[in-house]
Amino acid sequence: MDRLEVAIILAAGEGTRMKSATSKVLHPIAGKPILEHVLRSVSKLDANQLRVVVGAHRESVESALMEIAPAAIPVFQAERNGTGHAVQLALADISTEGTVLILAGDTPLISSDTLKEFLSVHIEDENDASVLSAMLPDPFGYGRIIRDDFGNIDRIVEERDATEEERSLDEVNTGVYLFNLSALRKSIAQLSTNNSQGELYLTDVIALIKSNAGKAAVILSNDYTETLGINDRSQLAEAGAILRDRINDSHMKNGVTIIDPFTTWIDVDVVIQSDVVIYPGTALSGKTVIKSGAVIGPRTTLVDTEVESGARVIESQVTGSKIGADATVGPFSFLRAGTVLGPSTKVGAYVEVKNSSVGEGSKVPHLSYVGDATIGKGSNIGAATIFANYDGINKYQTVVGDDVRIGSDNVLVAPVTVGDGAYTAAGSVITENVEPGSMAVARAKQRNILGWVLRKRSGSKSAQSAERAGARHEETSVTPPGNGASE
Ligand code: UD1
Ligand code: CA
Repeated sequence: MDRLEVAIILAAGEGTRMKSATSKVLHPIAGKPILEHVLRSVSKLDANQLRVVVGAHRESVESALMEIAPAAIPVFQAERNGTGHAVQLALADISTEGTVLILAGDTPLISSDTLKEFLSVHIEDENDASVLSAMLPDPFGYGRIIRDDFGNIDRIVEERDATEEERSLDEVNTGVYLFNLSALRKSIAQLSTNNSQGELYLTDVIALIKSNAGKAAVILSNDYTETLGINDRSQLAEAGAILRDRINDSHMKNGVTIIDPFTTWIDVDVVIQSDVVIYPGTALSGKTVIKSGAVIGPRTTLVDTEVESGARVIESQVTGSKIGADATVGPFSFLRAGTVLGPSTKVGAYVEVKNSSVGEGSKVPHLSYVGDATIGKGSNIGAATIFANYDGINKYQTVVGDDVRIGSDNVLVAPVTVGDGAYTAAGSVITENVEPGSMAVARAKQRNILGWVLRKRSGSKSAQSAERAGARHEETSVTPPGNGASE
């Protein structure tokens, strides 16, 4: 029987050293709360029962749990009387026998492989208690493993309770344990608060199990980075960086080029196909998916975004969008939720798009805002065009057909439709629908007041230049021939 009966995750602590209004275990790394990383690894062991001890920030931790691991049963620890007390509470309603895994909710880097290996050694060796240990370059703050003359575990001593000699030991308690349930039940009832913090220490159970003639063993983990506990913001950053490296390495192994892994931050659930190239300063988060041959970055953030093959996204911020095959985005584009760019589209510099679709081959190349719009295929939106979707109270839709040419500096005042193949003149404010194939001109005609500068700004440099160019004082208004749009 090598099945795990119970897994208990301890997450009731105050997390005082984080100095945060948010629960320690809900701080994210690689896009997921610390606790979720732990739960993901533990879930691969398929325990029959899962308990999570909660206390500080109870409501937020419990509601996160409901989302991440609905099968987990929260156990409320009203007063934080230590890790031993937390486990006593968790065991209170467990009557089954078998093996229990106990670990802290603040060790997000622990892998399921390490846990599985730990479990199989524990069962094979028929231990009553197994402690996962690690050799740390800086063991400060951790409990130390005290071994006897034969190299077996004798007890665990906390940093604060340790002698100077004990503190010089580098082998630490990772806070990951396996116990035989009946041996644990017996010994945990015997815990005392006889220590510097006046708490019930789970760590003291090891010595108790030994004195009750049980078999305790320590199993040394070969990758200490997996066992780092997060107690403060420095450790949060350290764990985040280790996870970043792990994630980047796995993508590189799968054929993704990451030019600068140190400045590339990819969340755990991001999917990237082979032959994608990622330039420096790029962050890919949430449920982002990137298909083969796409090139992302530099300095680009994609959140919950799908990028099709061959697309190019440069120096841009993109959320909740779809970018079609061979599309180009940026530099300096801002794509907001609901943006769908078709194949071979282009969204260029200083363009913001929201809740809009842009059909195959269409372009919004420069300085524009496109909101709540449907743009057909093969259309071009002139520079500095604004889709005015908001009247101060409600939002409205704009429809631009296929092969449309919107002139530069237009305002399309929604709701409005520009039909297939239509043109609009530069500088137009389009408030009425435009029929397919027509040219809309919606701007004042130009009037030149001749000699104005010579009369009103006489003696100025402008007036002098105008005189040299043959300008005369008298006023004669003429209308220039055509406005570039009339037929
Ligand atoms: C603990 C261990 C230490 C080990 C380290 C590994 C004890 C006494 N010490 O120290 O030997 O090296 O973990 O990371 O166990 N918690 C509760 N209820 C409580 C107290 C704590 O649920 O009353 C939870 C915390 O939320 C946390 C975990 O238990 O997730 C460990 O508590 P923490 O205060 O972080 O213990 P450490 O000082 O890190
Ligand atoms: Ca800790």
